[in-house]
Amino acid sequence: MHFFTRKGKTLYAEGVSIEKIAKEAGTPVYIYSNKTLKRHYHAFDAAFKTAAHIICYSIKANSNIAVLKTFADEGGGFDIVSAGELFRALKAGADPRKIVFSGVGKRTDELEYALRKNILMFNAESPGELRALNAAAKRLKKRAGFAIRVNPDVDPKTHPYISTGLKKNKFGIPFETAIEEYVYARKNLRNLDPIGIDCHIGSQITEMPPFADALKKTKELLKKLRAEGLAIKYLDMGGGLGITYDTEAPPQPSKYGEAIIKETTGLDVTLIFEPGRAMVGNAGILVTKVIYTKDTPSKKFIIVDAAMNDLARPSLYGAYHAIKVVKETGRPEITADVVGPICESGDFLAKDRLLPEVKSGELLAVMSAGAYGFSMSSNYNARPRAAEVMADGNKYKIIRKRETLEDLIRGEKA
Ligand code: LLP
Repeated sequence: MHFFTRKGKTLYAEGVSIEKIAKEAGTPVYIYSNKTLKRHYHAFDAAFKTAAHIICYSIKANSNIAVLKTFADEGGGFDIVSAGELFRALKAGADPRKIVFSGVGKRTDELEYALRKNILMFNAESPGELRALNAAAKRLKKRAGFAIRVNPDVDPKTHPYISTGLKKNKFGIPFETAIEEYVYARKNLRNLDPIGIDCHIGSQITEMPPFADALKKTKELLKKLRAEGLAIKYLDMGGGLGITYDTEAPPQPSKYGEAIIKETTGLDVTLIFEPGRAMVGNAGILVTKVIYTKDTPSKKFIIVDAAMNDLARPSLYGAYHAIKVVKETGRPEITADVVGPICESGDFLAKDRLLPEVKSGELLAVMSAGAYGFSMSSNYNARPRAAEVMADGNKYKIIRKRETLEDLIRGEKA
């Protein structure tokens, strides 16, 4: 559900015409809907209203501070994976006691920064990290609450690059050794407090069974740890709930919530969730302008001003994003590749897509681009990164200026 709908022939972001935004902010431009962001946060939050819980939005999906502030203002917490994401969260007004720190390769300086800010929990992914965290906490005379991210070896049935809970993946500590690590930590790593169990199995998961399998295994571990006398208070289920890009029908947050609550009632834990995509994916679009159209004997191409540096998902994962004309023209449909200006055949936003015929200067909206869109963008081919805009009712605001040519060489020296 989102608020990018047509009024007459023209696509709107909430109450604002996208043509109007594109005129002021230029293209390519990411446009987010504030109402959609809030709606998604509250859908998640309401799904768990009968249980103690914290919704820790996973910043990697979209880290613009206006997006983060929207969630922080609604009472949300955050899942971070770097010092940079912690910095962004704090700038946006996040409560450090609602921040969890994930990731396989946290550096010492990052651990120390997060310790100094008194975040809630470190989701440790290796024995080495636990020892580094303890040493850092000792140096700073702090205590660190931690969870071990366990690898439950379940198949989330999603793209291989975004599956994380299989034995062969680099993530987490295997179930079998996790107990030993908890027990070792309690005995020997004296500045650490074992307070949680963490499990994240992958992303864009569109069915319930993989989550249920992971939860079942996590509950067994919880029981065993409590039997060892460990005071586990938090069960972090990670993120991963999928969205509809095309015809996928993932469980709604309410159904996801129901299934999880059924399995966790009476466990006496606070549930933590790290949704990224489900919160922001359908709350954002990428608007791009047609530069040229080109017909060859074998194909038609629509060459647009957004490229794989702006939205990497189609090139990187073969991901599907719906594309709409911003203004309906009534022209017949054609089958074409929508491609960017970058010098690689891998630079495309859509292949063999059925779209109304378009002309130079017209606008296209790449849908469901709010998650892993701008946050994965780069300056490849020395392309300044796109502007970002937040629509809110009948108003909108530029929340990130388009980069300039000068921005491209900032910090460089010849
Ligand atoms: N927690 C952890 C530890 C994660 O690694 C991730 C995502 C999340 C939470 C949030 O997952 P979500 O709810 O967004 O599925 N760039 C890829 C997705 C990579 C996901 C990485 N980890 C894409 O564009 O599909």
